[in-house]
Amino acid sequence: MKKLKLIQCGVGGFGRGWALQHTSTSPDFEVAAIVDISQAALDDVGGAIGVDAARHFTSLEAALEAVEADAVLTVTPPAVHVKHARLAFARGLHFMTEKPIAGTLADALEMLALSRSAGRQLVVSQQYRYRPAMVTLRNRLRAGAIGELGHGHIDFYIPADFTGTFRETMEYPLLLDMAVHHVDLIRSVTGRNITRVMAQSFRPAWSWYRHDPGLKMLLDLEGGVTFSYSGDWSARGRVTSWNGSWRLQGPEGSLHAENDVVSLETCQRWSKEPTRQEFANDTTARDPQGETLHRFAEAIRTGVPAETSGADNLHSLSTLIAAIESIRTGAPVMVADVIARAAAVPAEAGVG
Ligand SMILES: NC(=O)c1ccc[n+]([C@@H]2O[C@H](COP(=O)([O-])OP(=O)(O)OC[C@H]3O[C@@H](n4cnc5c(N)ncnc54)[C@H](O)[C@@H]3O)[C@@H](O)[C@H]2O)c1
Repeated sequence: MKKLKLIQCGVGGFGRGWALQHTSTSPDFEVAAIVDISQAALDDVGGAIGVDAARHFTSLEAALEAVEADAVLTVTPPAVHVKHARLAFARGLHFMTEKPIAGTLADALEMLALSRSAGRQLVVSQQYRYRPAMVTLRNRLRAGAIGELGHGHIDFYIPADFTGTFRETMEYPLLLDMAVHHVDLIRSVTGRNITRVMAQSFRPAWSWYRHDPGLKMLLDLEGGVTFSYSGDWSARGRVTSWNGSWRLQGPEGSLHAENDVVSLETCQRWSKEPTRQEFANDTTARDPQGETLHRFAEAIRTGVPAETSGADNLHSLSTLIAAIESIRTGAPVMVADVIARAAAVPAEAGVG
């Protein structure tokens, strides 16, 4: 099958791995050009993947003038995503972005509108959906291992040090940069959207982040399921996996994902010795990022939106925006109200 031509924006940071391990080795795409505001990043990655200097650009505008392409991938800071989406859709190209889809809900809605009017695919690389433990948890829950889900919880504790990147100074770093994976996973694993959010964030005294790396959330899911979330990106001591530690509770027992091992525990009422069963992890055909990239190609070829399309992702981003509103007001926030308010605000002049 003919490879699709891809422009990759952002080849420093996480984009370096995208280029070396995914876009340059993809059976679906060939790298038509690389874009980064850092010449050093262009030189480094261009040399490593064999994209010559004539196809290195310091802006997406310049790349689009110079090379033919079918699609754009952006692995840049969240505030940049909307700018790259505007340029890609204006040229009739398909667009995949790293998470979070955008820095604001208004930007995400604009990206969605532009993809629809251009008739092109908008995909968000929510690759955690394809991590083996999360695929397994989803499959076991959907297969009825604990009966109908009643409630759930995630703990996330990793003392991550991102000094020197945008996370060091951004507001709500855990919520916006990391918990977006967990919120998206809650939706993917349970098959339910989040309807209402109550959230608090905090900055522990020892934290090296400028803003709050600590977060507590109480979430209502469709169908009356309650979910809680507790995390700190500056917590030294016992760590969880990047997926977090999960407990899903149903009438028949509890499903767990801890250190990426999925298990089922069942017992009679008050039994002190539950029966524990560990599952071998299920996998997707490719590693998680390779899977999102392949699904992007499939969406382009078939015209059928990917599982992690922009439209789907609106539910994940709007949950984060609802959480910020709840943190600021101290009150619970309905996710549907957040989407309705953002959609009612007219687009900026010159946009769309
Ligand atoms: N899915 C995951 O597991 C995961 C992990 C890490 C990062 N990410 C996401 O990837 C994106 C990038 O994060 P990062 O950690 O690589 O950030 P980073 O700051 O380390 O790197 C960003 C790169 O983009 C370049 N850049 C900045 N503005 C640009 C512009 N206007 N045009 C072209 N290049 C530009 C920078 O020079 C740099 O090379 C973010 O959206 C982040 O949330 C996802």
